[in-house]
Amino acid sequence: MVRIIGVISGKGGVGKTTVVANLGLALTTKFNKEVIIIDCNITTSHLGLYFGLHSVTTTLNNVLRGEAIIEDAIYMHESGLKIVPASLAAHDLIGVDIIMLEKTLERLFGKADFVLLDSAPGLGREAYGTIIASKEVIMVTIPYSPAIIDLIRCNQVIKELGPRALGIVLNMVTRDRYELTEEEVSNIVGLPVIGSIPYDKNILKSLALRTPLLNYKPKSRASKEFIKLANRILEL
Ligand SMILES: Nc1ncnc2c1ncn2[C@@H]1O[C@H](COP(=O)(O)OP(=O)(O)O)[C@@H](O)[C@H]1O
Ligand SMILES: [Mg+2]
Repeated sequence: MVRIIGVISGKGGVGKTTVVANLGLALTTKFNKEVIIIDCNITTSHLGLYFGLHSVTTTLNNVLRGEAIIEDAIYMHESGLKIVPASLAAHDLIGVDIIMLEKTLERLFGKADFVLLDSAPGLGREAYGTIIASKEVIMVTIPYSPAIIDLIRCNQVIKELGPRALGIVLNMVTRDRYELTEEEVSNIVGLPVIGSIPYDKNILKSLALRTPLLNYKPKSRASKEFIKLANRILEL
């Protein structure tokens, strides 16, 4: 059965899209899974940029407007990973309702092992639409208190809305003494930390090269952590 996993966060810019791209690639290339990743952050869509998909003809926006079926908006990466980008054009926001996502995903049942949803941050309508379409969620955060406080609220909302919270991914970890530790984050939020990705400038370089870190520097510590995260998710 397909596992639909929403990748969410309280705060923006913490690494959701980076996690979706690299986790998707790790599940595809290291564990031989059929994976589709979808940009559900309609207002500030970035996932396509991570793969050089800047100007595609059909996007999730067309699908949510009922102009196309989701299969038409799937683009295949050379690795076998499938990507559904959202439009970068402002006019494409008109008539798009993310609440349609849940229904849209039904067509993918039986067609993939994993569908990863790259959410908008916070708990607004866009993130809400992603959460209700998810069966499971991963929360991404940086190891600092404002971001963790936002996660507590996210976790409360998740409990009410029903998807299973798999755990927290700490990102941009430097092990600076001002950072919260894995154990502290886990205790504060009440969920396990299932991944810890180091801060790595190569992630910014890989973005400039329009390919995920796992492709660009497969042997880097951060890449190894993405593979460990994929393995952990397969066990959960
Ligand atoms: N572990 C990391 N180390 C260094 N830079 C990172 C890391 N994770 C993400 N970034 C960079 O931080 C920025 C925000 O990441 P992104 O994945 O787009 O966050 P979000 O999707 O939560 O807004 C991007 O420029 C990305 O390349
Ligand atoms: Mg993002």
